[in-house]
Amino acid sequence: MKNLKFHCFYNSINLLHIFPQKKYYRFQFRMADEEKKFESVVFKPIGYASTWFKFKNATPRQPSVSALTRGSIKISTEVFSQPQHSLKNLAEFSHVWIIFLFHKNGRPFTKTMVAPPRLGGARVGLFSTRSPHRPNPIGLTLAKLEKVEGDTIHLCGLDLLDGTPIIDIKPYITSYDYPQDMKETDSAESHLDSAESHLDSTGSHLDSSSVPPTMISNPEWITLGGSEKTLNVAFTQDALSQIRQFSPEAEDPAYRLSFLKSPEEAQKAIEDILREDPRSIYRKMKGQDLLYFCVVDCMHVTTWFDEVIKKCEVLRVMPYSARQAMIEANKKQQWDNNLAKIEDKMKVM
Ligand SMILES: C[S@@+](CC[C@H](N)C(=O)[O-])C[C@H]1O[C@@H](n2cnc3c(N)ncnc32)[C@H](O)[C@@H]1O
Repeated sequence: MKNLKFHCFYNSINLLHIFPQKKYYRFQFRMADEEKKFESVVFKPIGYASTWFKFKNATPRQPSVSALTRGSIKISTEVFSQPQHSLKNLAEFSHVWIIFLFHKNGRPFTKTMVAPPRLGGARVGLFSTRSPHRPNPIGLTLAKLEKVEGDTIHLCGLDLLDGTPIIDIKPYITSYDYPQDMKETDSAESHLDSAESHLDSTGSHLDSSSVPPTMISNPEWITLGGSEKTLNVAFTQDALSQIRQFSPEAEDPAYRLSFLKSPEEAQKAIEDILREDPRSIYRKMKGQDLLYFCVVDCMHVTTWFDEVIKKCEVLRVMPYSARQAMIEANKKQQWDNNLAKIEDKMKVM
């Protein structure tokens, strides 16, 4: 295993574009015969994520952005003949690790330094970040498990695009995944027991004063730019009354929420996503996107960002399908106008 060295080629992603019906991703690894290194590994997705994030724009940068970013993963029958059996006992856990492929990266990324959004342009080493732009485009998300239904798991706190291929799912196990400094205690076991006892009924850690001392440390730049860089989110009266029209039971399918459970959740989800300022650094620095658009569940949200007072205001919330229809109608109008101009010119000739 020590010699295991792999080079990821992007034949996989190209294959998918050429043969989308194939639905698998091939990672090829070169083998130097004399060294007996791994030549190739093929991952077949165990399923695909279903979320409301159709575009990277306003997809949370981490699951912690909002507990309301729900979604599901259906285990594929291409891997197991009885996929539901693979999920047995999983509901006994509160959280799961999701290992997935950044399938929309589009091109290989081999830069050693990257600029995380919270650092305002400063660059740090790639492996100190959770950037999606890495040589092997593998993502890792800790999500809360809402329920297991047959061959499907329902999760909250997702930062995955809709259709993301899932490579694996593993349970979050406190005694394995919450690091403890064994050397600091007389007995490793008693330390693990004490860590377990500092979880509440949902598996969340209680306030830091009650957690035993550990050797966990994070650099300052991770916490810097945390809460102080979040924005105040306000809603106009119009936007608030527009949100009230959306619900999972709405008669008109355009107003029917698929992931959020009430208009109150819809408002909170919009607030959570905007508070973290989802705009890209590039656009922010260029002064673009003062007016910003994003999709939350079935809602198309128009927002105004005020750079000076670090505030954003939600101006309008309309059904995403209605917004699409508006764009199509505009395109058709433009097309008709152009056609009319050409016809006029031809008449002159
Ligand atoms: C910063 S990454 C973090 C992902 C994961 N929590 C991790 O740490 O590996 C999250 C971002 O990846 C992007 N993303 C999510 N799913 C993707 C996919 N399937 N392909 C490409 N980019 C994706 C979205 O822009 C999202 O905001």
